[in-house]
Amino acid sequence: MNTTATNAMSQAAIHVRDLCFSWPQGAAVLQSCSLDVPKGEFWMLLGTNGSGKSTLLRLLAGLLQPQSGEIQISSGVGFVFQNPDHQLVMPTVGADVAFGLVEEKLSIAQVNARVREALAAVKLLDLQRRPIYALSGGQKQRIAIAGAIARQCEVILLDEPTALLDPDTQLDLVAQVRNLVKSRELTALWVTHRLDELNYCDGAFLLEQGQVVDQGDPERLKQRLMQEANVAI
Ligand SMILES: Nc1ncnc2c1ncn2[C@@H]1O[C@H](COP(=O)(O)OP(=O)(O)OP(=O)(O)O)[C@@H](O)[C@H]1O
Ligand SMILES: [Mg+2]
Repeated sequence: MNTTATNAMSQAAIHVRDLCFSWPQGAAVLQSCSLDVPKGEFWMLLGTNGSGKSTLLRLLAGLLQPQSGEIQISSGVGFVFQNPDHQLVMPTVGADVAFGLVEEKLSIAQVNARVREALAAVKLLDLQRRPIYALSGGQKQRIAIAGAIARQCEVILLDEPTALLDPDTQLDLVAQVRNLVKSRELTALWVTHRLDELNYCDGAFLLEQGQVVDQGDPERLKQRLMQEANVAI
């Protein structure tokens, strides 16, 4: 391996090379897919329906196994799903964030400190005792992010986390994730169809039929997709 490739790899929190994945009896979803997300950066993943975005995120989270290719990812991966109702499992906010810490065998005081710190990071400390059913969609997404922070995840993968949110809450969430990435040196990969969210990221990938066909400056990619949408109309 040459030095440039080694450097790129050592600075990447997410490193994917030549990843191939097919569903059983299905066509190839990812076809020699490669990308790197630098540590401490907020990148977005764009692409039409069925281009393989969710599949790629599931592979990165270890929820699926590739047929071939390489994945290297920093330790501790948090996942935020599109539907806020599909990820919180406990009856209250504090219990839900604490639930993710069960495997770490911490003392009650340590769990409490981690939960409070994580809730403060997403600015929801005052909701610690609130029942989950009483939260808005945007608050639920922030609790899911707090869960990842409490587990001290270095990488957060978010699959269309704003798809079911109203426009104001949508932009609040994306701004907050950007702030968290920058203030805590996290790395985030965020899937979206909403082009206004691109204003908040460091870079973006465009996926087509399971391959990265363009990447880099979010503004350039936004212009490209807007032009393509106009042509399609
Ligand atoms: N559980 C599954 N079993 C079989 N095929 C699947 C399964 N999940 C997804 N697929 C197929 O894999 C392909 C890629 O799907 P994927 O969900 O990764 O796309 P996506 O880019 O996330 O799309 P969207 O923007 O609609 O969320 C699609 O053709 C889809 O039909
Ligand atoms: Mg998807």
